[in-house]
Amino acid sequence: MTASRMTAETIAVLSQKGGTGKTTAVRTLADAFRRAGVSTLAVDLDPQGNLSDYFDLPPDVEPTIADVLSGRASTDEAIHDDLIPANLSLAEAELMLGAKMGRELTLRRALAQIPGGYELILIDCPPSLGLLTINALVAADHALVTAEAQYFALQGVEQAMEVVELARDSLNPELELLGVLLNLADMRTVHSREALASLRERFGKRVFDTAIRSSIAYAESAERARSILDYRPDLGADYLALADEVLARLPGFEDARRQVAGLGG
Ligand SMILES: Nc1ncnc2c1ncn2[C@@H]1O[C@H](COP(=O)(O)OP(=O)(O)OP(=O)(O)O)[C@@H](O)[C@H]1O
Ligand SMILES: [Mg+2]
Repeated sequence: MTASRMTAETIAVLSQKGGTGKTTAVRTLADAFRRAGVSTLAVDLDPQGNLSDYFDLPPDVEPTIADVLSGRASTDEAIHDDLIPANLSLAEAELMLGAKMGRELTLRRALAQIPGGYELILIDCPPSLGLLTINALVAADHALVTAEAQYFALQGVEQAMEVVELARDSLNPELELLGVLLNLADMRTVHSREALASLRERFGKRVFDTAIRSSIAYAESAERARSILDYRPDLGADYLALADEVLARLPGFEDARRQVAGLGG
């Protein structure tokens, strides 16, 4: 890790809609970054716990992010294999959080306690723009918005952007839009091409050049709790290209980019 890096760059991955590939993006980017030698912490902030499953963590592992947010555990204790997991108890923790002073700042304070050494933190948000996603945006330096390559993609991204701006204007002026990712794309279809065109028109260069191709292999890889980089390296090339673009938009990851370039094989 670079000596000059005092704190990790934190990226919240969010979308207004469900099923836009947030969890798959966090799982696979974390894998790509780690292979490139970047010390990466993943945070599951979704009561569905899909990210924890995809990393093959036992479902009863404790403490979880819910324990951290409700003050029952330290952040340090909740890190298991470079992941802070979640399960359904996070739904209850979110309700309790709603009644607390500083409820939007709870995750930010928790992540500030993270032991040194992590260079990147990726937060997997739930499919809503509620208090948990707000917490992620207040805790993050960067927002990565995912969109499914379908009708209304632009509308979903606009709504997510409104919440990003809300977080920036109120509690986190440092927050930046890292980029917009077109996911589950099939460029042979007019839907996917139109979704990409409308996002490019609205967000220009903020849209990543890489669109993640749609493939049933992603659901299979999740079911097997294996990274797509192992399960289908040919498809994994999409995420390696995205990993490179993400690192290029962050300060100080030139070495890691060279490592990513070597992963393609
Ligand atoms: N590129 C892809 N092509 C096809 N299917 C994909 C792709 N990426 C993810 N999927 C599948 O689509 C479904 C939704 O993906 P994922 O869980 O990553 O989305 P999400 O945005 O995290 O969903 P949620 O909003 O419920 O948290 C999963 O079954 C996943 O395996
Ligand atoms: Mg998810």
